[in-house]
Amino acid sequence: MSLTHKKIILGVTGGIAAYKAAELCRLLVKAGAEVQVVMTAAAQQFVTPLTFQALSGRPVLTSLWDAASGDGMEHIHLSRDADLLLVAPASADFLAKLAQGRADDLLSTLCLARTCPLAVAPAMNREMWAAAATQRNLQQLHADDVKVLGPAAGEQACGEIGPGRMLEASEIVTALPGLLEAGPLAGKRVLITAGPTFESIDPVRGLTNRSSGKMGYAVAQAAAEAGAEVCLVSGPTCLEPPAGVRRIDVQSAAEMHAAVLAELPSEVFIAVAAVADYRIDTVAAHKIKKSAEPLTLQLIATPDILAEVAALPNAPFCVGFAAETECLAEYAEAKRVRKNLPLLVGNLAQDTLGQDTAELVLFDNQGLHRLPRANKLTQARALIQHLLKLI
Ligand code: C5P
Repeated sequence: MSLTHKKIILGVTGGIAAYKAAELCRLLVKAGAEVQVVMTAAAQQFVTPLTFQALSGRPVLTSLWDAASGDGMEHIHLSRDADLLLVAPASADFLAKLAQGRADDLLSTLCLARTCPLAVAPAMNREMWAAAATQRNLQQLHADDVKVLGPAAGEQACGEIGPGRMLEASEIVTALPGLLEAGPLAGKRVLITAGPTFESIDPVRGLTNRSSGKMGYAVAQAAAEAGAEVCLVSGPTCLEPPAGVRRIDVQSAAEMHAAVLAELPSEVFIAVAAVADYRIDTVAAHKIKKSAEPLTLQLIATPDILAEVAALPNAPFCVGFAAETECLAEYAEAKRVRKNLPLLVGNLAQDTLGQDTAELVLFDNQGLHRLPRANKLTQARALIQHLLKLI
């Protein structure tokens, strides 16, 4: 998958992140794309069209009413010709406009007239991002099949810290090939669990495990690259969701269980999360005070999310993960059979947990397939390729 010769309309709206769009434009051109920049009036308050003209090698379009633009149907011609419309940065105001289907300037008109995929990279103050209206608009955009890339969290131009920063230009460029071509998983929903779970003991303490979420997030990225609509149900991690992936944050196994069931049906379910097998029977309402007496915690089993999903009458294609500390082949294959899975990924816990690389063994009805040690994204892509052969 490549951006070479792809016709991309880069829409720039008014926000301080417009300066990052210059770098984005440069990277797109470097990747071989033919970039036509369209700026809103507000965007031109932040960066001049000349900057983008120099970087894209094409005059920037700014108005629906430009007499020089031929027969007055530029919005139709341009959008018909494009492989992708990317709005970066997308301000809160522009997202609102898109959600409403308004067309009162060139860029919003292009978005409405388009026949190609539309991706937006939101950028705004964290309160504007969290505002009920913005979140409502985003839900509408998801429903309208607009791909939302980011935003990232961190320090903002206004000095505040939180979600709302535009993704880095390089991250946006990485996400685009998956949106452009109808990948092998195009039109398919892939539901993924990732990370550890956290089972509360009292308001300040809990049981968790050493899972970092790296493998699950890599699988989510690989599935998105293959064109799937990916929902990532994630336990607590410090990772950013891959571009184009919708993440649902959960803490406990019970929350993960509920979130997964709510997201079904899907064509594929990949359970990468290290779900706690037990939770505390009765979570203390207040912090448990220290005492010299031994403390006994009563643990009860959590629901096995994967086994439950795999047993549903309209079960998705289910993939399990098994981290073992010994007898990998024996335990993993037994787990695959017990949970009735067409595919299970085994690894040695001590070699994998928290690491950037992994050595995997895939177990399916044909037997066993080894994936020698490589970084987790490479492994995740190989896993998706293998899965594609089976579904
Ligand atoms: O049985 P075990 O926990 O070793 O199985 C691991 C696999 O089952 C993983 O794919 C994990 O995500 C999934 N699992 C689950 N719900 C649980 C426990 C494990 O989905 N409660």
